[in-house]
This record gives sequence, C-alpha cells and structure tokens, in this order.
Amino acid sequence: MTTDLAAQDLLRAAGIGRPDWAVVLGTGLGAFADALENPIAIPYAAIPGFPQSGVSGHEGRLIAGRIGRSRVIALQGRAHYYENGDAAIMRTPIAMLAALGTGALILTNAAGGLREDLAPGTVALITDHINFSGRNPLIGEIGDARFVPMVNAYEPSLNARFRAAAQRLDMPLPEGVYLWFSGPSFETPAEIRMAVMLGADLVGMSTVPEVILARRFGLRCGALSLVTNYGAGLFGGAPSHDETRKVAADGSADMVALLTETLREPLSEKLA
Ligand code: HPA
Repeated sequence: MTTDLAAQDLLRAAGIGRPDWAVVLGTGLGAFADALENPIAIPYAAIPGFPQSGVSGHEGRLIAGRIGRSRVIALQGRAHYYENGDAAIMRTPIAMLAALGTGALILTNAAGGLREDLAPGTVALITDHINFSGRNPLIGEIGDARFVPMVNAYEPSLNARFRAAAQRLDMPLPEGVYLWFSGPSFETPAEIRMAVMLGADLVGMSTVPEVILARRFGLRCGALSLVTNYGAGLFGGAPSHDETRKVAADGSADMVALLTETLREPLSEKLA
C-alpha cells in the first residue's frame, strides 16, 4: 500500500472524511487552526509518510474541523525543500488530500514583499509563480502525468472568492507573483533586485513545489502570503527568521479573518 493510501485510511479511521477545503499553514500562521470548530488533531508523526518539519514556528499537526458550513483540514506546519533537499517532501500529504477528494487546497506562507505596498503585515493574494529554484517535485516521476499544465494553477475562481471575502471584510488584498528561492539562507540585495527584474512581487522558500504537486494530483489551488518583511535591501529590508516569526504571529489576525471568511461556504462541485 502506498503511504498516501495508508495516511488516508488512518484519517478515515479517525472519522475524518472528504474536506471541502484544506489549508497548509506557513510560518507563524498556525493560529488559524484554533478557529476550527470540533477539532480532531493528529500529530504528523502518527501519519504514515508525513514529513516532520524541524523549523521553529511549524507545529506539525493535522487538524480537522468545521468553519461555518465547511469541513476543513488544516496542516499546521509544513516541511520545506531546504530541510533535506527533497523538492517532493510534501508529496504524501498532498496526494492524501487529493485522494480524500478535497475540494480545494489553500497554501499560505510568510513572504518578503518587493513592492512598497507589500509592506510587513500585509496579506497578499498569489496569482502566479516563478520557480527560480531549478528544482521540481516531479523530477524522476515516470509517465505523462508529470507534464502538468501550469496556466491558471492559482485557480481564478478561488482568487475571485478571496477578493470578494476581502471586500466584505473591508481588507485590502494586493496581488502578486511569488518567486521561490530554495533558502534556507535569505537572499542578498542583488538577488532581490534580480527577482524584481524577473517580475516577482513576493519571495519565499515554500509553496511553489506544493502547487506543482497539487496540480499533479488534480487539486484546485489558491495561495496567500503574509508579508513579514521587505525583500533584502528594498525599503530597508533585512529579513531574519526571528523577524519572520514575530511579524507573522503578530499579523496573523488578518490572514485568519480572510481564510475564515472565504472558507465558511463549501465549494460547489462545479466552481462558479
Ligand atoms: N525571503 C525568503 N523567504 C521569506 C522572506 C524573505 O524575505 N520573508 C519570509 N520568508
């Protein structure tokens, strides 16, 4: 039995069925899981094939519960490429969510902002990405499923839902292109100037391989960044992990509010 099927069986045994939404919670964003009603929490260590994250600010628990009319699975903490050099490190959790029939997967992250309006504390909608790492989680896979189309990988109708929810909350929701640097070192100012020239608005060390995997398994995706700092050398930006964690924790209320407002209604089978 493959690990994602074993993981799926474990969830079913715990009474967790098809979620309307799944959310991967990035650095310092674990607070969203506290908003779930009737939660059931399972440590990653107990789920076959789930990677352990050694990064502070990442809890390492799956939490299933409800928001409004929706069933939601939150992955509180993710593992990153830079932890062991495996770009497919999140393959089992994402394959499992797809096998469960998850309606849509929302990725969240802490990111550096490359435009002045993407100031620390801002929540931003990711509308496209640049895979600058040179890595791909599908390298080595056999068969035609690896040739994943990436147009509209960030599902336009999900983006529309986020925009509508932000409007209801009277919250600005700037949008941008996210560029994946492998990390774990932060960027140099020269690298950030290059990212700007390439057309990036946000930079970070996650999300891109997860979106590629999610599209590989046919999951609809949306993604949000919480900007924790300006990119190195831009507008005084000098990012550090401590700053990322602190700003993400302090600024997570807007992210939690936007997720809660967006996810309270399940998606219909056919996206409007
Ligand atoms: N660069 C890369 N990753 C990040 C940053 C950054 O500036 N901020 C938060 N995660």
